[in-house]
Amino acid sequence: MGLNKNTIKGQSSRPIGVFDSGLGGLSILKALKEKLPNERFVYYGDTAHLPYGDKSENTLKEYVSSIISFLDSQDCKLIVVACNSAATVIHKIEYLPYKENQIIEVISPIVQLVAEQKKYQKIGVIGTRKTIGSGLFDQKLSQLNSTLEIFTRATPLLAPMIEDGFVEDDVLLPIFRRYFKGFENCELLIPACTHYPIIYKQIEKYFNNGLKVLHTPKIIAEKVDQVLASQKLINPEKNYKVDSFYLSDITDNFLREAELFLGSDVEFSLVSL
Ligand code: DGL
Repeated sequence: MGLNKNTIKGQSSRPIGVFDSGLGGLSILKALKEKLPNERFVYYGDTAHLPYGDKSENTLKEYVSSIISFLDSQDCKLIVVACNSAATVIHKIEYLPYKENQIIEVISPIVQLVAEQKKYQKIGVIGTRKTIGSGLFDQKLSQLNSTLEIFTRATPLLAPMIEDGFVEDDVLLPIFRRYFKGFENCELLIPACTHYPIIYKQIEKYFNNGLKVLHTPKIIAEKVDQVLASQKLINPEKNYKVDSFYLSDITDNFLREAELFLGSDVEFSLVSL
């Protein structure tokens, strides 16, 4: 990752930038807001380019670079890459206006935690074609803990279905049957896409609650808290300025889903990059 600024972007009152291809990152944002109530957030959803999971590496690198530059222009002190697909390319981008310790992505903290735990041996990982195809989860997990048995599967239909509100049990059931073939003996499932928290309950129900689904947003929020604390960047006072939400394409459907998801009325502004 290229570095161009030697000083840590100081001032704890600055906002935290969070981005995803669409709705999914809001699951991370929600956990961040619970964990870090004094912080202000700038959210970018690249809805015009969704889904990210099917994009080529170069295209994804371009999208991610533009979004991070935009978040930099909003004076963000830290960037949270709230998208696994984007996280697979972040370290391959040559120039970014942030240092490595100012960018937190959603893959490394999860891999670290799963590799270190002792309770579960058979680990399932689901995600977009980009995330699963990158091989990052299986490679990193086996490097860190060679005793783990890892089962991975690309589940590309799930993110667009969630984005479109197709989340009922009976709609998901035939898709789960197909996607989870071979996962019967898994003890822990890593839902490696930030859209999936919306259907955690449906997945747990499908497995009759016999499979632990890792609740990833909380883990990421803990990590962000630690990183901010270690850099003395936690805002000591509540920031009463409202969070900002930007989208590269605004559709009625997205607004409806976002409202459902965040549980509150949020205004999105259009910013094409
Ligand atoms: N939420 C994104 C992720 O975590 C993916 C959704 C998409 O394909 O755009 O991978």
